Amino acid sequence: MMTTKTMTNLPIKHPLNINSREFTANQYAYYQWLRQEAPVYKGKVSIINAYLLSRYEDCVWALKDPRFVRNRTTATGESRMPFPMPKSVAFLAQSMIVEDEPAHRRLRNLVHKAFTPRALAQMEERIERLTHELLDKAEQQGGVDLMSTYALPIPVTVISEMVGVADADMPKFRNSMQVLTKGFSGWTLFRTFFWDMPSMVRFVRDIIARKRADPQDDILTALIHAEEEGEQLSEDELISMVFLLIIAGYETTVHLITNSVVTLLQHPAQLAHLRAQLALMESAVEEVLRYNGPVQGTKPGYAMEDITLHGVTIPRGAAVMPLLGAANHDPAVFANPEVFDIARTPNKHLGFGQGIHYCLGAPLARMETRIALKNLLDRNPNLRLAVRPEELRLQNVPLWRRYERLPIVLG
Ligand code: HEM
Repeated sequence: MMTTKTMTNLPIKHPLNINSREFTANQYAYYQWLRQEAPVYKGKVSIINAYLLSRYEDCVWALKDPRFVRNRTTATGESRMPFPMPKSVAFLAQSMIVEDEPAHRRLRNLVHKAFTPRALAQMEERIERLTHELLDKAEQQGGVDLMSTYALPIPVTVISEMVGVADADMPKFRNSMQVLTKGFSGWTLFRTFFWDMPSMVRFVRDIIARKRADPQDDILTALIHAEEEGEQLSEDELISMVFLLIIAGYETTVHLITNSVVTLLQHPAQLAHLRAQLALMESAVEEVLRYNGPVQGTKPGYAMEDITLHGVTIPRGAAVMPLLGAANHDPAVFANPEVFDIARTPNKHLGFGQGIHYCLGAPLARMETRIALKNLLDRNPNLRLAVRPEELRLQNVPLWRRYERLPIVLG
């Protein structure tokens, strides 16, 4: 093992261990080193070997160049996933986030038809009411973990209403969602594949059958009936889409809301500025996505041919992962990238990705976070952390930026 130092004097140990708590705790310093010293770095993320890209321009390039494909079979001739999956749930690995054109476009158009402006507008009223109900309860306690009492129930409720889960089924649905997004390794992986996923598949299949028999005014019903050039989603595609919406839309939003509150509390002058000028709310959420976004990397793209970048040849079939968090702090694109500035313009961050897989739920996620923040700040002029900032711990999940808890004093 070799050691060098970053400009912030952090000793960098080679080879980098992206999956370590050390890396998570010093993510932005490591990114700086990667951008400068190793812009195409051969590493391992979770159990996937991949070339990591850290410069903004390179990340955008890789996300737009069709020589990198999401469908691993197209590039390698091997299985869809770099690890084996039991047959009963393997179809779940075929959602649009791991498809290329034209299969991707067909699926995306179909789901787009269900995300109508009317569906979003209904959601807006619901989130308004929900945030007030949650704050009514939390404020009676004064000190709370804001993540579990506020940031989490917001997207859970939104998704369950999108899918149209009945109140009685909510605990099961919520529990399965948490299991699905807990991270995959060892015993957890086994349990998830052989127990949790199959039981969730049965659950979603039942809901679909009920909606077919008795259509409702929800996004799942719209998805069941959506048609693209005379074609509808098959039953397996529907289930896979529901899983994608849950996985892509739930944990991400919990942590965007949490990270927004943490980042604002860590920057009191910016928080005061926002309170004095609430019109900056939208731009503040964009800056959190850039400065401290929950999603730090995309799904891997697989090279269709040997591709050389900055002197490193990425061989055909190898995986490439753009590090969105590193791109978002690239000084070649963002002036003073380590400064949190809620009025930053322009702010072309990559927090929602880029290219054909750009986040489908971005308008919904922005709306949830904006309403959650606005009502929290309005009702709590003395909001503060209940612990010292250095006591906030990050979960050790590669390519994410998520805190374990957010102890807050409301008031
Ligand atoms: C704060 C919240 C969110 C963040 C930071 C976020 C981030 C992202 C990113 C970075 C991607 C691109 C991934 C890639 O290229 O591999 C993506 C894709 C996606 N997101 Fe989000 N997301 C958020 C919320 C949501 C919500 C609320 C939904 C839906 C309910 C959603 C649905 C999707 C879907 C379906 C895709 C795949 C699109 C495609 O393959 O064409 N996301 N998201």
